[in-house]
Amino acid sequence: MSFTAPIQLPGLVLNPQWYRSAVFYEVMIRAFVDSKGDGAGDLTGLASKLDYLQWLGVDALWVPPFFTSPLKDGGYDVSDYKAILPEFGTVEEFRDLVTKVHERNMRIIMDLPLNHTSDQHDWFEQSRTDPDGPYGDFYVWSDTDEKFPNVRIIFTDYEDSNWAFDPVRRQFYFHRFFSHQPDLNYENPAVHAAIFDVVRFWLAMGVDGFRLDAIPYLYESEEGNGEGEPPTHDFIRALRSMVDDEFPGRVLIAEANQWPREVAAFLGTDEEPECHMAFDFPVMPRIFYSLRSQHAGELIQVLSETTDIPTGAGWAVFLRNHDELTLEMVSEEYRQAMYGWYAYDPRMRVNVGIRRRLAPLLDNSRSELELVHALLFSLEGSPFLYYGDEIGMGDNIWLPDRDSSRTPMQWTPDRNAGFSSADPGQLYLPVVQSLVYHYSHVNVEAQLAQSRSLLHWVRNVIHVRKAHPAFGLGSMHVLETDHESVLAFVRSHEGAVSHPSEPAEDILCVFSFAHNPISVTISAEQWADRTLTDVFGGERFPSVGADGLITLTLGTQSFYWLHLGHPTRRH
Ligand code: NOJ
Repeated sequence: MSFTAPIQLPGLVLNPQWYRSAVFYEVMIRAFVDSKGDGAGDLTGLASKLDYLQWLGVDALWVPPFFTSPLKDGGYDVSDYKAILPEFGTVEEFRDLVTKVHERNMRIIMDLPLNHTSDQHDWFEQSRTDPDGPYGDFYVWSDTDEKFPNVRIIFTDYEDSNWAFDPVRRQFYFHRFFSHQPDLNYENPAVHAAIFDVVRFWLAMGVDGFRLDAIPYLYESEEGNGEGEPPTHDFIRALRSMVDDEFPGRVLIAEANQWPREVAAFLGTDEEPECHMAFDFPVMPRIFYSLRSQHAGELIQVLSETTDIPTGAGWAVFLRNHDELTLEMVSEEYRQAMYGWYAYDPRMRVNVGIRRRLAPLLDNSRSELELVHALLFSLEGSPFLYYGDEIGMGDNIWLPDRDSSRTPMQWTPDRNAGFSSADPGQLYLPVVQSLVYHYSHVNVEAQLAQSRSLLHWVRNVIHVRKAHPAFGLGSMHVLETDHESVLAFVRSHEGAVSHPSEPAEDILCVFSFAHNPISVTISAEQWADRTLTDVFGGERFPSVGADGLITLTLGTQSFYWLHLGHPTRRH
């Protein structure tokens, strides 16, 4: 594997595959910093914390929707794709944010909910009032609510049908999500043109790409289930081709909560690429399953299923995000087990998932937090952090729906956790004040002051990852072991002569999910006789045997990242 030659843009040298070795950070504008004192975060507030994010080692921001919106679905209900919600700021402030991000050699990805709009979007207003007008066909209208019988309901706690009756047009309209989010009609070429126009608008403003929200659901059919139907893939291919031609170096990231093969399909093929990256929905819940079951088998199985993707494509690996920890893509048996372990209070559940943050899910166990982060930063793909998880922020399950894990970022022990100077009652959501996760002790300032804090640990592991190109660019080879609780793999990078900063290297990663210390023997024939050196502290371990076997002991829920060196060379 080698990089394609860097492309040259006026004043900028870009590596077109920058996303493969980037560390991403999901930051909700509303939740991060309130610069105006009105109780909600804003663009200027986010811009004021770029130094912090750069210090942490973040390369790219993923910013959920900030378009004008009635905010009935966290901004995923867009009422104007070309305007910014006034409480977040202005287009000028957004341009300023993009400039400041780029000045730091960081990048910024927007969210594009392109499957549906808010029912308050002007397109919908025109569609319902003027069926013969230019927007009459922009949405999926029907005289009955019986079309598309195989299409499942996603928001099972809130909706009992994918159709809603519009009293104005006196027809039903189709919606995959909330009934206030009518689906756009992709059978209509004018919808394609309108979405291409939106994409060009923001790319021309300098954003580095899009997370394509709910991408499997663009088309539905009588026979299919409306998930990844062939014309949906045709549309993504056309979008990719336009982006590659007109805005090389920008990326498309698929949000496709599907089974492994179907997710991989959103990356396309070498000949017909689709998205540059796809969120690794199959792997995520299986990490949590392994932690409690003490079995690595499911994770190993799914890792072997998801590896076949086009050259240059990558996985977006994540532990948590602004949504529930979705359990749609696990078997019923596993789902029930996960509910039992992680959502023992029914209040912790929503739809088919768990609405909790990372630290409370893991009961604030430092060893588990370290173990899952070590996985996040060494699995094949690019890691995506969720704001606040780097300090182990808690959640608030008394808030409705997914607001439980969208509370204000905790910066200091001061009023409103340093997030805002507003009257506490004015905050868009209250700060977390639970016994274990109270902002008076879980905050950035306190963790900066403690060298052994989770924040410093996460920063360190990010920087160690970055020092080893194998993590971002290398292949992954899962190894056999004699212990059911152990996952072991080698990340290998061939290196590139043209990039001396990216030497060839192999790194053995070993994770134990066991709740007690264990000893394990790992088969690594291909690496027989190689030396083993801990990448964190530089300590030498016994070398791999001539028979390719390695025997290691691991403490409770712990891991190693070991450099595989050549006996005759320095490493
Ligand atoms: C996926 C987004 O992540 C989620 O927050 C939203 O509710 C749905 N799409 C519907 O827009």
